[in-house]
This record gives sequence, C-alpha cells and structure tokens, in this order.
Amino acid sequence: MRKLTRLVVLMLVAVLIFPSKLVTPLLVVDAESETTIFHETFDSEEMVFLQSGGASLSYLSGLDFTENGHGLYVDRRMNDYDAADLAFAQLGLEDRHTYSVTVAGYVDVDEDVPAGAEIVLSLVDSYTWINNLEINAGEQFELTAEFTVDLLMDEKIRIQSNENGKNVSFYVTEVVIEEVGAPAAEASVEEERKPAKQLETITFEDGELHGFEARGGNELLTVTDEANYTPGGSSALKVESRQQDWNGPSLRIEQFIDKGSEYHLSVWVKLIDPGSAEITLSSQIGSGDFGASYNNIQTKTVSVDDNWIKLEGTYRYSSVGDEYVTLYIESSSPNASFYIDDVSLIKTNTDLLEIQRNLTSISEVYKDYFMIGNAVSTSDFAGDRLTLLKGHHNLVTAENAMKPDSAYNNRHFDFNAEDMFVQMALDEGLAVHGHVLVWHQQSPEWLWADDAGESLAREDALVNLRTHIETTVAHFGDSVISWDVVNEAMNDNPPNPEDWQGSLRQSGWLQAIGPDYIEESFRIAKDVIDQNGWDIKLYYNDYNDDNQQKAEAIYQMVKEINENYAAENDGELLIDGIGMQGHYNINTNPENVRLSLEKFASLGVEVGVTELDVTSGSDGEQTEEELNQQAYLYARLFQIYRDNHEHISRITFWGLDDGSSWRSDQSPLLFDRNMQAKPAYYAVINPDEFLADFEVIEADARLGKAAYGTPEIDGKIDDIWGEAPVLPIDRYQGAWHGASGEARVLWDEENLYVLVEVNDSELDKTAEDDDQHDSVEVFIEESKQKSTFYQDGDGQYRVNFDNEASFSPEGISEGFESATTIDGTNYLVEMKIPFTTITPEANSEIGFDIQINDAVNGSRESVAIWNDLSGMGFQDPSVFGNLTLATSVDQSELTPIETGSSGSTTLIVSLIIAAIVITAGGLTLYHKKRRNQ
Ligand code: XIL
Repeated sequence: MRKLTRLVVLMLVAVLIFPSKLVTPLLVVDAESETTIFHETFDSEEMVFLQSGGASLSYLSGLDFTENGHGLYVDRRMNDYDAADLAFAQLGLEDRHTYSVTVAGYVDVDEDVPAGAEIVLSLVDSYTWINNLEINAGEQFELTAEFTVDLLMDEKIRIQSNENGKNVSFYVTEVVIEEVGAPAAEASVEEERKPAKQLETITFEDGELHGFEARGGNELLTVTDEANYTPGGSSALKVESRQQDWNGPSLRIEQFIDKGSEYHLSVWVKLIDPGSAEITLSSQIGSGDFGASYNNIQTKTVSVDDNWIKLEGTYRYSSVGDEYVTLYIESSSPNASFYIDDVSLIKTNTDLLEIQRNLTSISEVYKDYFMIGNAVSTSDFAGDRLTLLKGHHNLVTAENAMKPDSAYNNRHFDFNAEDMFVQMALDEGLAVHGHVLVWHQQSPEWLWADDAGESLAREDALVNLRTHIETTVAHFGDSVISWDVVNEAMNDNPPNPEDWQGSLRQSGWLQAIGPDYIEESFRIAKDVIDQNGWDIKLYYNDYNDDNQQKAEAIYQMVKEINENYAAENDGELLIDGIGMQGHYNINTNPENVRLSLEKFASLGVEVGVTELDVTSGSDGEQTEEELNQQAYLYARLFQIYRDNHEHISRITFWGLDDGSSWRSDQSPLLFDRNMQAKPAYYAVINPDEFLADFEVIEADARLGKAAYGTPEIDGKIDDIWGEAPVLPIDRYQGAWHGASGEARVLWDEENLYVLVEVNDSELDKTAEDDDQHDSVEVFIEESKQKSTFYQDGDGQYRVNFDNEASFSPEGISEGFESATTIDGTNYLVEMKIPFTTITPEANSEIGFDIQINDAVNGSRESVAIWNDLSGMGFQDPSVFGNLTLATSVDQSELTPIETGSSGSTTLIVSLIIAAIVITAGGLTLYHKKRRNQ
C-alpha cells in the first residue's frame, strides 16, 4: 500500500516536474557475456539486495528515468551505512577472483543533497571503499570499481553514501558484475625460485665446517675428534667461546628449502660446560636488516652427564624472508659450550593445507570491545601468513624488530629494519604497538655498563636512557599508537610487594640509575609526545601478571608514579596503560588473571593484554585433552576480557601459529603448524558456547592427617613420629621422575612439625636460586579458604639438604626451626613451623602440601609432590591438599618407622578415630559433553 502511494507520488512528480526529456537511457553495458556474473535491472521483484542499517529498500516501477521504469529505492537513511548490500555468496562470487562492478542510479530532483555528498561502493566487513562519486539532485550517477574477493575479510558489496550524504535517498537502477580474473596461479605470484637442493646429513667426518658459521662472530667452531655421534664416524663440531645466549653455530639453508614446504630439522648435541644448560635448535627467516623471525624448533635441558641428545622438529617455510634462512643452535646459558653432530634437514612431503578462509574473524567478533593484535615479523606480511594476520587482527607488535638491540648498528642508530616493518604494517592497514624502549634483555649492554661490564655512573646512564628514548620515540612518531616504555622491571613473586622499589629486578638500568629509571623513562617519552602533540599511549609491560604478589608491586609502582605526575600536571596520567603479557599455561588460574586486571583497572589506566599465549603439551604435540584444556583457559580468559572490556585496549597474541611461536615446543597459540584453527580458536570467538560444551571435573584434593604431638627438631627421628601416618610424596610435576620420599606431620597448639625422608641419588645445591637445590618445601594455608593467592597465614617453607632455609613470603621465618641429616645421597629434614594466624583446634583442617626438588648439575630436574600437579602452589593455595589435625589415628593408618639413630623399628598403636573429609580442588580434568558443531 505504502509502496503504491509512493509510486503514484513519484509518477506525479516525474510528470509534473520532469516532463518527457528526463527519461534517460539505461546504463550501456556490453551484451551479457560469459563473464557477466550478475545483471540486475529490477525486472522481477525477487529480493537479492539486503538492507544495511536502518535504510528502507523498495522495488519501484513506473520510474521515468529508466527505460524499463524499474529501480530500487533506498530511503529513510540516517547513516552513511544505511544502504543496500549484495552478498558475495548469493551472487556466487568466488574467493580470490577479481570482479568489476558498475552501479547506475539516480537522485530525485527535490532531494536535499548537501555539498560534498557522495555515493560510495564499499566492501564489508573490512569497510574498504572501492570507489566514490559526488551526487546531485536530479542527476544520474554511474560508478565503477574493480575488486578482488577475500572471503576472510569481506562478504558483501555495499552501495552507500559518505557521511555528508547520510540522509540522501537514492535509486539504484542497474547493477552489473563481471568477472575480470581468476586467482593468479601461485607460481606467477611467487618469484622464481630454483628447486631446492637436498641437504646431505652433515656429519663433519671430512673435517669441514660445511657452511657452519659463528652466529655472533666470536664463537670458536672446530671440527674435533674429541666426540662423535655419527655411527661408525669419529668427528663432531665443537662450539666454544660463546658470549651471548643467541651465539652458536649457524648454517644458511635457503637453497635447500622449497618455499611453502614443511621440513624436519634435527641435530645431535652433547653438552661440555656448564653442568646443565638449555639448548635450542632454531631457524631464522630473514636477515637482520629484514626484521628476521626466529623460530624455535625444540629446546631441551641437557646435562653434562647425558650422552648425545637429539633436538628435532618440523617447520613449514611459508616464507623464506629475503632469501636468507638459517638453521642454528643456541643456549640460554651464554657461556655454554657443546658439540653438535649429524645435522639434517629433510622435506616431509606433508601437503600444504589450504588456509581456512571462511573462519569468523576474531577482530570482527571483538570489534566493539578491543583491538586484536599479534606479534609478527616482516616475513608475516606475505602470502597465507598475511591472510591469517589481516583476517583476524587489526594491530601488530614487532616480535623482535623494535627492541633496543635492533635500533643500533655499531652504537649508531639504525632504524632500517624497523622502518620496513612499520611501513609494511601500515600499508596493510594494521595499527602498530611499539615494543620496547627500556628492557634488561635484547638491549645493548653499553647503554648501562662499560666494556668491563661495570655499571655506568648514574648521569652517564641517564644520558643514554634519554638519547635512546627521545630518538626512538621521535623517529617513529605517531606511526605507532602506543609504546611499551618499560618492560619486565619487577621481580617474580616478590615477598614484600608493598615495597615496589625493593621488588624491582636487579637489571642493568636499575643498577646504574636506581629505581627512578622507570619514572624517568616515562617522563622522557611523554615529553617527546607532548611536544609533538601526538596521541600515543605509554605502557608499563610485564609477565607473570597473574601472580598477586607481582601484580601488587606493579600496582604500587604505577600508583605512586602516576600520583606524583598527576599532582604536578592537573591530574594527567604519566603511565597510560599496564600491559599484562599473558604468557600463561594450562594451570594458570583465570581468577588470578581477573584479580590482577581489576586491580590494574582500579588505577584508572587502560589494560592491554600484550603477549597472550597458553602453553600445553610438549615436543610440539598436544593430546586431545591438552588441546581442550588450553581452549578452556582461552575461553575463560576471553570471558574475563569481555566482562572488563571497557578497561581493555587490546588483546595481542604472541605469534600467528604454533610453528612460529617462541614457545613452539608447547603449542601455545590458536592456529596449529599448518595454520589451521585449533579448539582454542573456537574458544576465543565464542567462549560461552565453548564452555557450554564442556563439563569441568575437579578431582578431589588429597586428604592427609597430622597426629598430635611435639617432637624435638634435631634431625633425629623421635618415637613420636611413628604416631603420624605417612604422606607419600609420589606425584611428579614433570616427565622426569627423580628424588621421592615420605613425610609425616605432627601438630600441637603452637606449631606444625614436618619430617621428610628423601631418597636421592646425588646431592646438589650449586645453582644460584634456592628452588634449584635438592630441597624440601612445605606449603601451608592455615585458613583453608582455598584462596587463589597468598594471604596472612599462608606460606612456602623450603629447606635444602644442608639445612639452609628460604621462605615465601619472607616474614614467615620467625620462630621457624629446621634440622637435616644426610645419609649418603639420602637426607632427612625436620621442620617446626609456627602457626601465625590460628590456634589450631583438634580435628580442624588446614591447606597443606609437601614437595621434593631434585637438582642435578645446578638445575632442578624433577619435582615430586604429595598433592598438587599444577606447580602453582608457590602462588595459589587453592591447589594444596588438605590436612586434618587429628587427635588420634587408627593403627591401620600407620606404617612402622625407623626411629632414633639405632635403626630399631617401632610399631605404633593408637586409638581409633578417623576423620574423613573430602574437599574439592586439585587436579582438574575436562570432559567433552557433545561434539563441537
Ligand atoms: C621473545 C620473542 O618472542 C623471541 O623471538 C625472542 O627470541 C625473545 O623474546 N616478553 C617480551 C617479549 O616482552 O619481547 C619476548 O619475546 C617474550 C617475553
């Protein structure tokens, strides 16, 4: 009815105001050919156009400005996007095909058309304009554009207006879409590359280096007969005089790589020195000037006692950088020396899987909440990697290219690689986050130390700090939206976080300048930005952000620095944002992430999740359960992020796919090595739906009993210990099963007493860190609240075989006593732990766990524990087991014990009262209820 009225009015208008002459010819198009995909002249009323926004679309006839009198009227417009859409799928437009589109139309003569009003053709969902043209009342328009369909980015073509024309109603009288080109064959896109040669396994038997070079230039590489792995051979390559963690033997391999193919890389290594070290097999793609990517293939902790160890893994070379690819071996111990042998690189012939182009875009899902970023290198700006990057993200961080190390060449600024990175990102329409200005790693040490490694004088270091920050911030200007000004300044799990200055990492910057280097850094950066009138947000960025002690220290620091600045500057912020790196694992408690996020947001700063990844599995493999556990944490995290979105600026993942992740061994990302979406991807785009598909099964925490009694703490086993049941320390947190033991616990009104007998094969406390010694740890939560973070009454007590104690938090050491006895390579620890917040009642319960650390050659290789397998007990009491402070224990629960030094066995008989309490907590399993649709 409405349409009819409209029609009558229109016809009247046409007749009255535009007599005869205004009937205009149709848009002239070539006769329909095979290439014509769609030709619409509105002869039928079949509705193929879709309404966008609040526009009203009506098919009208009797129009006097078209030959057939038919057209589509788009009116009731209030926004530029109140428009008419055509869906690619409905028209049959194919991915990566190129089309031309021509749209003809008309604007009524009495239409109020503001100056500058334009008709616009755009692609949705990327909102890319493909052409635009001014429109005028009483005139026809004809607009043509060419576009290539990218289904990962767009699904519709839109006929809309610009902002000036947002109220203008218009007619569409004809639309023609023709195919211009099929996707370019891969070969023609690819630059010509010679087919790869085959690399013969390098055995060093002929005494040659076979192209291996010192990565850092100073390392000594010699073929030697001191060691050999090759069956029947006698030589290996010896690697000595390394000075930095990234030093080591490196081999150029681009000529052995067919771009796009997957390869299996392997090398045998044998450690020479120190006693234990992490060794990594990696592959670098792109030269230093290109903004290379560094891909860890496999990392293993090896010990000098180990024989040869194999490092291996697969990597798909979807990029070959600027024709510079290497295979190299490095160690996080800068001075480690080692042998390598039998280096091989073999094409796996695993098919390249098509990247999934029809996945829901992550950045699209969260476009109203926060930006979605990724950490990339220049080799990610091409091919499938670029498709994945642009399809799901709108922000990038340079994974390595913009770190202080890359800003210099022989102590002179050299931003070539960085500039290339930033330009590539901007050309792709991606925003850039600057990472990083001030950090203790991947930075030239001369910034804060002299050649002998001694700290520079404060003033000299401040000059370097100022020059570095001013030059870098000024150089990049507002091509970045934000900077990590200071990265990782805080210690892990600081025992007294209220004292943030005392909680700072002993970094080179801190040692040279003092704790105000942080505030100074922000002020220097802020001055440059303010002088130029740029809008760039300044971030403090750190990891282990879920640890409540560390979060508290960061909170105190940002609070104080911002309050100082605000007092002088009308309440303005100096630190705009806190970056929660988010390098998590499947045991991370999402509640702690929520707590930290809320704590930071309460400072009125924005929060960025800046380096998100969640490790799960090992050796590059994940079981179905590990995939689901990982996805489960991602889903929980994204619920938390969504709930707090008004405080969150961006969520940046640390890498595009598992193969290129810095923690590649533990497959931490949303896309697998073939860039296929994992369960974690589906969890991220729809956390609620994902979680609804799973049932969480919380395994019961172990329940143990302490008997009533007071022993002497002298390293001898008093008879009274025989009255306490044994707690077996028989669960292992890692794959390696080293020292184990048994514990017994006694209590009285003042103290808890713990006896641990450890079976070890070697005693070692050569490491710097206490937790890397052969030692015993007791965890206590007096309140048994199952809190996810430490509060008063919670503590971790550690005693090594030499009776050296350490505590977390530090304050709990008061009144603590311990004694140890060593018997060969076995040892015994006795502890007296004062209750600090409770006077225990009989048969009450406390949270409790007990752990044995087994160190070999200066590093902890195995952790045995009574209850918790997550390894989070140092910060999360909810993972502890439960201990009943019993008044009496049934004889059947007791095991004989060798007491005193005589070695006699006493069987202890006690009264019968067994209290059984079962509480939820501890191990968590996930069970799939139904299949993912
Ligand atoms: C890592 C990169 O991912 C690796 O390629 C590089 O070898 C070491 O640095 N916190 C940070 C990041 O702020 O810069 C680190 O990136 C990961 C931890």
